[in-house]
Amino acid sequence: MEFSSEPILQYKDVNAFYGTKPVLKDVSFMLSKGEFVYLVGRTGSGKSTLMKSIYADIKVNSGKAYVAGFDLLKLKSSQVPLLRRKIGIVFQDFQLLSDRTVAENLYFVLRATGWTQKGKMKARVTDVLLRVGLSSCLDKYPLQLSGGEQQRVVIARALLNEPTILIADEPTGNLDPEVAEGIIKLFLEINKSGTAILMATHNLAFLKQFPARVLECKEGRIEERANFS
Ligand SMILES: Nc1ncnc2c1ncn2[C@@H]1O[C@H](COP(=O)(O)OP(=O)(O)O)[C@@H](O)[C@H]1O
Ligand SMILES: [Mg+2]
Repeated sequence: MEFSSEPILQYKDVNAFYGTKPVLKDVSFMLSKGEFVYLVGRTGSGKSTLMKSIYADIKVNSGKAYVAGFDLLKLKSSQVPLLRRKIGIVFQDFQLLSDRTVAENLYFVLRATGWTQKGKMKARVTDVLLRVGLSSCLDKYPLQLSGGEQQRVVIARALLNEPTILIADEPTGNLDPEVAEGIIKLFLEINKSGTAILMATHNLAFLKQFPARVLECKEGRIEERANFS
């Protein structure tokens, strides 16, 4: 897989807390531009917490943490939207607005992130839906789509602002195996075009089928793991 060595994420001895409870403990790792990395570990080991810290949903308290050119320890709340524009986020539960069509779901995000020109917005929506293979679903409502299709819309939504990194928190957790395989193949394709991807997963079969770097979360610590595939 192609990627330059330029880091887009650098954590050094990062700690974070929920109240007084430590949840990230001396976390150190780097992600390079265009890299694909799996994040594995038991439920409760800190995977979602680590991801939340990356998109500034929780604060990091000490160490050094840089994401897409932002220093998380010095991040002002006014800068959070700017950081999030560099990061595409995909969750396990689809979180689409069910009373709006696919197109409206995407326009909603574009407007919220400062887009104003109708023509450009339309071109962008068309482009991301094409990338996820859903060009014909523009006017459908989320509940008219299968789970796999809904997740593709979420991925399209995450791509709208051309993120440098995609964070996916168990994106296939609610999908049947064959549908899940289609989704991971889509992530790999997106990765090939240069977007770095950090994907938390419990689906260890993927690690064999589509080998890549593996980070393991253990009680709030991150370790580089050999991929035995
Ligand atoms: N909002 C929260 N408040 C307090 N503790 C939390 C909160 N969210 C998660 N935790 C705790 O933080 C730890 C890591 O959780 P999490 O990051 O969700 O793990 P994972 O995603 O690997 O299942 C767990 O002990 C969990 O109970
Ligand atoms: Mg989780």
